Amino acid sequence: TLGQGAVYYLFGATGDLAKRKLFPALFSLYKEGKLSENFAVVGLARRTRTNEQFRSDVYESIVEFCRYKADDTELWNRFAEHFEYMPLDINNVDAFRELGKLSEQLDAKFDIPGNRLFYLALAPELFGPVSFNLRDGGLLESAGWHRVVIEKPFGYDLESARKLNDQIRQVFREEEVFRIDHYLGKEMVQNIQVIRFANALFEPLWNNNHIANVQITLSETVGVEERGGYYDKSGALRDMGQNHMLQMLTMIAMEPPSRLHGEDIRDEKVKVLRSLRSYNSHEDVRSNVIRGQYSAGEARGTQLPGYREEDSVGEGSNTETYFAAKIAVDNFRWAGVPFYIRTGKRLPVKTTEVVIEFKSMPQNVLFAQRHDLAPNLLVIRVNPTEGIYIKVNAKTPGVDNSVQPVAMEFCQSCQIGLNTPEAYERLIHDAVRGDSTYFTRWDEVAQAWEFVDRIAAAWRDDSGDLKQYPAGSWGPKAAEELLAKDGFHWWPVN
Ligand code: BG6
Repeated sequence: TLGQGAVYYLFGATGDLAKRKLFPALFSLYKEGKLSENFAVVGLARRTRTNEQFRSDVYESIVEFCRYKADDTELWNRFAEHFEYMPLDINNVDAFRELGKLSEQLDAKFDIPGNRLFYLALAPELFGPVSFNLRDGGLLESAGWHRVVIEKPFGYDLESARKLNDQIRQVFREEEVFRIDHYLGKEMVQNIQVIRFANALFEPLWNNNHIANVQITLSETVGVEERGGYYDKSGALRDMGQNHMLQMLTMIAMEPPSRLHGEDIRDEKVKVLRSLRSYNSHEDVRSNVIRGQYSAGEARGTQLPGYREEDSVGEGSNTETYFAAKIAVDNFRWAGVPFYIRTGKRLPVKTTEVVIEFKSMPQNVLFAQRHDLAPNLLVIRVNPTEGIYIKVNAKTPGVDNSVQPVAMEFCQSCQIGLNTPEAYERLIHDAVRGDSTYFTRWDEVAQAWEFVDRIAAAWRDDSGDLKQYPAGSWGPKAAEELLAKDGFHWWPVN
């Protein structure tokens, strides 16, 4: 358990993230005994709310979104006791002094040694002002540790990210900053390094001698929902590419770290990001990166509006809701192996999958008549199903000399009684323990922006390559051609 205890300050406590992810995560941690009793949560937002109202918001969020039920009244009551709400104007330093007083009361009440975790589920432009007021309001003077958890998006491009980072770093040291990429909290993303480094079956083959290509798909069925205002300025490349997709790519591509420690792992990840071949002209971007935007369509019998018809989206918007890219990792291990990544809204299924396609066996006399031997695949299923499977070739039963691909499958999420922790549970737990392995370090963030900025720059200058795709389809045809040019195709996701 987190024996020492801490006060958790939830900035943005009336927002969507708190409701869908953070309250449920805290309840699950509590239920599993990982929070002990020495903690307090202070909900902070502009709006006025009583403690009772706040606790009932938390309750409703747990009923709706938590993997555990809140049906044990005694447990719920004990949990709710730890929650307080305080309306806060984040530009007013006196309000932070008040918060300081409340904090001292909470430390005393719950026997907390002054440890403080500030969780900023806020718009990025507020990260700086909040950090300054935490300092100026005296909140960083307590005896224990002080850490800040920062939600994405971390900036809009390298320049804005750097400004943001400079502001935060005037107040917090790098070790105190926990930048969230919730994909790193997913069980199967963390499992990548185990699958790789704990299996003699895979690690020796994990290079350009044996791997033909890598495919990462992150598809969603949802549109932009109520987030048009944010999304229209962001788009798929910034919303998913700069963070989740490149982070998964680094987990697949990194060299074995010297130890499984946060800094060692992040050192290896940043080396991968540095090895990404940057696109050096607009033409280069055009031929390697496909962008799309959904138009009206149909999925499962429902008519869906086009992106430009969504709320808070400009009529003539050229924001991409889909992109696919061919990425080269220029290092010894990966020279010549394309990494294809794709993500989009309003695609046919919600799934995150990584496919490692192995090189084909040399054509040999044994299967001389078979020119179509399927390659071996290792598929890592991140969500909603969690598991891995391998495609191997085997004899077709009852037919001489006939070969067919078969799957050897391990489905983790199918195991009865296994209720894997949500990404946010794991990440909050890690932040409180001071383990930043699965948070992004500044150099990773900066390097990822540098890569993405080149694509964004080409797109900004010319929107002629934006392709429409009907909602409910697999995106623009050009994304198929991206692989076909290299003699590959996207493996269908499950
Ligand atoms: C978020 C993006 O980071 O990830 C959203 O901002 C996206 O646009 C979400 O829907 C997907 O996360 P998950 O865990 O549901 O796959």
